[in-house]
Amino acid sequence: MKTKVLMVCLGNICRSPLAEGILQSKVDSKDVFVDSAGTAGYHIGNPPDERSIAVARKYGLSIDNQRCRKFSKQDFSEFDLIYVMDRSNFSDVASLAENKAETSKVKLLLNEVELGIKEVPDPYHGGDDGFESVYQMIDSACEAIAKKLN
Ligand code: 4NP
Repeated sequence: MKTKVLMVCLGNICRSPLAEGILQSKVDSKDVFVDSAGTAGYHIGNPPDERSIAVARKYGLSIDNQRCRKFSKQDFSEFDLIYVMDRSNFSDVASLAENKAETSKVKLLLNEVELGIKEVPDPYHGGDDGFESVYQMIDSACEAIAKKLN
């Protein structure tokens, strides 16, 4: 059985599409399925933010084909692990859980690494620089997750 991992942020156009693309690139797709979603529905059906597409491309990853979707309660039964980017995502997702088993699937992405910060900052309103540091944080965490899953 494949392990199914869901990456979640607010808009599903900046951080979680990067997390989806990065983790999928580090694992065998025969064993691990990775998807992403947003807690808000502002951008449903849209491709990732062009700044996320650009930083992913810089590191050889194509995330252009991803399309934004909203997190739904059904994702708790569909996915084994749900990684959120910040505490606000954590409470939004955890508030939809119906039992402890569902709540226990929700984890802060940066708890996987020792970076001195626990939240991936929302880069949406910043400049391009934010996307580079966000990429690096997500990459470190995904490296640690991939080691556990591979
Ligand atoms: P994300 O960034 O949660 O990393 O996808 C955001 C994208 C869009 C908005 C907020 C955050 N927005 O308010 O539209």
